[in-house]
Amino acid sequence: MEQVSITIPEPNDKQKLFLADQHRHVAYGGARGGGKSWAVRVKAFLLSMCWPGIKILIVRRTYKELINNHIVPLQAMIPREVARYNKTDKVFTFSNGSTIWFGYCANDSDLDQYQGAEYDVIFIDEATQLKEEWIKKINLAVRQPNGMPKRTYYTCNPGGVSHNYIKRLFITRQYEDKEIPENYSFTQALVQDNKAMMENNPEYVAELEALPPKLREAWLYGSWDIFEGQFFEDFVDRPEHYKDRTFTHVIDPFEIPDNWKIYRSFDWGYAKPFSCGWWAIDTDGVAYRILELYGCTQTPNEGVKWTPDKVFSEIHRIETEHRWLKDKKIIGVADPAIWDAETGESIAEVAARHYVHFSPGDNKRLPGWLQVHYRLAFDENGFPMMYIFSNCKAFIRTIPMLLYDEHKVEDLDTDGEDHVADEVRYFCMSRPIKPRMAPAPDEYATNPMNLFLDIPKADVMSATKRPRMEIIGGD
Ligand SMILES: Nc1ncnc2c1ncn2[C@@H]1O[C@H](COP(=O)(O)OP(=O)(O)OP(=O)(O)O)[C@@H](O)[C@H]1O
Ligand SMILES: [Mg+2]
Repeated sequence: MEQVSITIPEPNDKQKLFLADQHRHVAYGGARGGGKSWAVRVKAFLLSMCWPGIKILIVRRTYKELINNHIVPLQAMIPREVARYNKTDKVFTFSNGSTIWFGYCANDSDLDQYQGAEYDVIFIDEATQLKEEWIKKINLAVRQPNGMPKRTYYTCNPGGVSHNYIKRLFITRQYEDKEIPENYSFTQALVQDNKAMMENNPEYVAELEALPPKLREAWLYGSWDIFEGQFFEDFVDRPEHYKDRTFTHVIDPFEIPDNWKIYRSFDWGYAKPFSCGWWAIDTDGVAYRILELYGCTQTPNEGVKWTPDKVFSEIHRIETEHRWLKDKKIIGVADPAIWDAETGESIAEVAARHYVHFSPGDNKRLPGWLQVHYRLAFDENGFPMMYIFSNCKAFIRTIPMLLYDEHKVEDLDTDGEDHVADEVRYFCMSRPIKPRMAPAPDEYATNPMNLFLDIPKADVMSATKRPRMEIIGGD
């Protein structure tokens, strides 16, 4: 038979530890970009080659992620003479009888595919994205001893539904009945350990550096302890409350120039408060929360109950009477749930009857919170991309009270009074911005031009600081 040669790039030092690890439960990563998915693919391939007949499963949350992170790269890596991929069964079959299968798990019902199935080795890529009970059930599919290695590999970042479970097993190492401590091993890998990424994709590192402080701690430095306490630590109502803050988001109202765009964002509270915010956008894209309407849709102990009709007739009255809003085209964005019409007329239909129109907001939570954080971030001159007029009392009262969720740790605790926050999130997602760099990033690492310049760092720094004309026409 013809010889086939396969070249695999050299693993980095952390990947070498992972590849050589022989514990029953092996975890790797603990931060973004450390070369986790690469290590999974290479280890699965090497096991298949070394152990004829071995049965391997690679799990990710969704099928799309499996295709992008594993199936397509493995097809590129493994010659067809060595293994063939069957799309229908989602399996690579090696000429030595080994197989690599793929499974996804985004819902309870997806677990059915693992019922009764048996594998020698299971990889759970991005394990913290899967619920603890799913991970435990998937682990039941590691089959009885048959002379082959029996292992479960987990790759992980802090955050996600099973943050606390993975943290307990591999970071704090607090074990419960039947969990044998010696069976668990963890290798931490940060993006800095992944030389390939540092060299070929410095923008990725720059993106991690531009994350809001807590996510940066988690994903760039691999901290598992940071998702606790106040969710919007970056909101500064009164700088005199903080030792190290000189800038604030809360400002006195001023007259809104006629040419600024106006937005309205809205969150409906079913038997809870509703929140409506009006935003003015200046010519640099900076958002000012200028007005708000906040009230309870249930009869509270005191005050009035806001029926949908009352809410929208009041919004319409404000928009036709207030000097900042009247005669303006107002762009409305709202919780997509207001289009659900479980009891006849939907909330969106009631709104439309009162001439209040919305588009459905983008309800993705984590990207939405990131957008709010990006807008709150101050640049090096102390300018954020979002200001709050001091008359917006509901924002100023509720945003500092919100806490991180104990279970879905990078999200906020929805038991808090989060209606203003949700409505702000819909607004921010309707005008997404790029993260502004944290002050003083490493210029060499973040300048894409350096990719094609093979000159020492000091020279690049001085070259990029020269006037532009000199670089274009120059040496
Ligand atoms: N040893 C290596 N040699 C060459 N390239 C590598 C190596 N390790 C990782 N890479 C490349 O680095 C990039 C990031 O690696 P990978 O996708 O495995 O990281 P990750 O930790 O899974 O990232 P994320 O947290 O974003 O999922 C990929 O392009 C991958 O192919
Ligand atoms: Mg990955």
